[in-house]
Amino acid sequence: MTFPEEKLEALKKEYIDLLISTGRKGIKELIEYLETRTDFFTAPASTKFHNNFEGGLLEHSLNVYENFQIMLDAKGVQMDEDSIIICALLHDLCKCNFYVKEDRNRKVDGKWQTYEVWSNMKNPSIPLPHSSRSIRIIRSYVSLKFLEELTIFYHMGPYGGEDYEYKNLLKQVNEQFPQTLLFYVADLISSYLDEETAE
Ligand SMILES: [Fe+2]
Ligand SMILES: [Fe+2]
Repeated sequence: MTFPEEKLEALKKEYIDLLISTGRKGIKELIEYLETRTDFFTAPASTKFHNNFEGGLLEHSLNVYENFQIMLDAKGVQMDEDSIIICALLHDLCKCNFYVKEDRNRKVDGKWQTYEVWSNMKNPSIPLPHSSRSIRIIRSYVSLKFLEELTIFYHMGPYGGEDYEYKNLLKQVNEQFPQTLLFYVADLISSYLDEETAE
């Protein structure tokens, strides 16, 4: 499964226009980096689960943007529009240059067939955990406000966990900054309800 070329182009335009609308220093350089030195605009969002096909990561980022706005509105929680865009569209930059296609073999009606699957790169060039890797890439170009950093860092919720303090801090941060909890939920809604898994 993949998106038609026109749909990919439309998603890419929406993504770039939103990022530019933040007016952040360094955002054009970050976009140029994504376009010329990464596979962001064609990467999948996962290997076996949600949006595991070309363009999946791009669409996932826009889905999270939409769902995050819905969650903030539903709960009457405030966040600056530029921060919503930065968090949603950049939270999974860790998945750039991270998935590779591999050949596998299977027997169909007694005959071996080769098919392609996505798998994780064995030695990523930035050997940091998921959220930290995204933050590291973003910060090479654009500075993050404190709430944006918290939102991206804790976006995996209870499935993150990068040291022994993580779970306690997550509870504290979710209580103090409800944006972080709503972002985690928006990411889950996007992955589980809005996105498909290709066979
Ligand atoms: Fe993520
Ligand atoms: Fe995500």
